[in-house]
Amino acid sequence: MKNKKILVVMGGVSSEREVSLCSGEAVYKALISMGYNAHRFILDEKNACDIAKEEPDLCVLELHGKGGEDGTIQGMLELMNIRYTGSGVASSANCMNKILTKKMLVFGNIPTPEFFVIKKGENIRKFAEEVVSAFGFPVVVKAPCQGSSVGVEIVHDIQELEAAIAHNIDYDGEILIEKFIKGTELTVPVMRDGDEMIALPIVEIVSENKFYDFESKYTTGMSHHIIPARIPDDAAQSIEAYAKKAYAALNCSGVARIDFFVDAENRPYVIEINTIPGMTATSLVPDSAKAAGLSFEELVEKIVLQAM
Ligand SMILES: Nc1ncnc2c1ncn2[C@@H]1O[C@H](COP(=O)(O)OP(=O)(O)O)[C@@H](O)[C@H]1O
Ligand SMILES: [Mg+2]
Repeated sequence: MKNKKILVVMGGVSSEREVSLCSGEAVYKALISMGYNAHRFILDEKNACDIAKEEPDLCVLELHGKGGEDGTIQGMLELMNIRYTGSGVASSANCMNKILTKKMLVFGNIPTPEFFVIKKGENIRKFAEEVVSAFGFPVVVKAPCQGSSVGVEIVHDIQELEAAIAHNIDYDGEILIEKFIKGTELTVPVMRDGDEMIALPIVEIVSENKFYDFESKYTTGMSHHIIPARIPDDAAQSIEAYAKKAYAALNCSGVARIDFFVDAENRPYVIEINTIPGMTATSLVPDSAKAAGLSFEELVEKIVLQAM
């Protein structure tokens, strides 16, 4: 196993390039420390095809966002017959687009906040009035295919709602509007261990900002991970069950992180699914793994062995 050539693919061209470089470096170092034949591959606009020249036995994908987490590089690797970690083409694409994810969740009877969708060119005023009469305020406006809270706004009146739609619609050509859930934010890593699907401990996320925005995600001290999450046992059990159900419904592989909210009555809602979650030393998945007694290196090794 240890002489197999492993390429840790990181960087990419999305707005999450810097985060990806951190994840990739941490995973690369972990593989080297365990004696694996690991190499770095820094992806940019032009060099994706050079991956084949490296003749890797496995690509460990530590890319986030568009061009990395959305099924495109996965499709290229499939065509080149190169093995890779994480979810496949369709699963990656469905999880990258929050609207598609939610449609699959609804079909699978997995709770997710109620939502509306507006496409570019449709009447924003008419749509906003419809949203307000159904949900009231606040509501959450999201560009559906971004990450790291880019294109996410919580709005409190109709002017803000219309403005948020107008200035975020060009990201992806459509906008997701979600009912705001007042409660506790949680996340659950799910992976396969042999033939078994396992959920790692639930992490509660507490942000110093109004929500878990870009700044609180990536600035030390601006958010806190609480493990185990401060929720009742029965809520925790149902979240774990829904996390596994969501992983299966979206056909995920490798490690996926299922993000949740629970409302004041401890009712869970799936917010989104991340198919290549952050893997820096301070990211959510490694923290959860640590609470389960799994070191960063052991976690990385599990991901590699599963993909092989
Ligand atoms: N329905 C919601 N109710 C309340 N807060 C939300 C809701 N959806 C998202 N948020 C807040 O916005 C953040 C980013 O939204 P999310 O859908 O996870 O997008 P991203 O892919 O950018 O992480 C979440 O971490 C959470 O703090
Ligand atoms: Mg998120």
